[in-house]
Amino acid sequence: MQTDAAPRIPRHIAIVMDGNGRWAERRRRPRSFGHREGQKAVRAAVEYCRRRGVEALTLFAFSSENWKRPQGEVGALMQLFLKALEREVDELHANGVRIAFVGDLSAFSPELAARMQAAMRRTQDNGALRLNVAVNYGGRWDVVQAARALAQAAVRGELAPEAIDEAAFARHVCLADQPPVDLFIRTGGELRISNFLLWQVAYAELYFTDALWPDVDAAVLDAALAEYARRERRYGLTTAQVRAAS
Ligand code: FPP
Repeated sequence: MQTDAAPRIPRHIAIVMDGNGRWAERRRRPRSFGHREGQKAVRAAVEYCRRRGVEALTLFAFSSENWKRPQGEVGALMQLFLKALEREVDELHANGVRIAFVGDLSAFSPELAARMQAAMRRTQDNGALRLNVAVNYGGRWDVVQAARALAQAAVRGELAPEAIDEAAFARHVCLADQPPVDLFIRTGGELRISNFLLWQVAYAELYFTDALWPDVDAAVLDAALAEYARRERRYGLTTAQVRAAS
């Protein structure tokens, strides 16, 4: 168990990138313009994390609920993802970034799904930063798919129901091979988790900022990391216990 109180860099940061639509509307531009600007902020955040030595960055790019948005906006986002996969993967690969898409990929067009798979395969040996892009992802979906996998193993006779404990469950949720989320950031002023990572944020520090996602730069991320460094992570212990252990 990690009980350090000293200033430190989070090993794993998860971000709800909210505010693209409002950013564009304030400029009387279509919401899709905000998403395109948001992509620039994604690039900057990846570079920031790589430079600061963060091990994993998980971005909520498209939730299971986002399909309910106007068809035009969903289409624009799909186009943006396709183009991003065309344009960004070479540079990410050159910079040692290992990309993973997490979520139910079966809902995407065969072309988009194939490109996501290809980007994952191509970058799988990279070690500078794990970049996880959550697409058609929902935290409850994630918990349910883990429960289903455990049930299937039990039915096959490979797992006794009594052996299902937290550790077994944790091995089946998304991002199981990565450090737990240390810092959960939401931009755009809302104070919600919105069905992003649920299991994985059990002990994450939560940080909310009014900055709209396209405006997020190194200064905003510096402020989040500074606040994180000030927090005392107790994991259920007392302050005295934490201090004694560190
Ligand atoms: C939330 O803002 C943002 C999204 C649903 C899409 C996020 C997508 C990007 C940042 C584009 C690029 C991403 C990658 C990984 C290439 P919102 O539309 O809900 O904003 P609002 O709350 O102001 O309406």
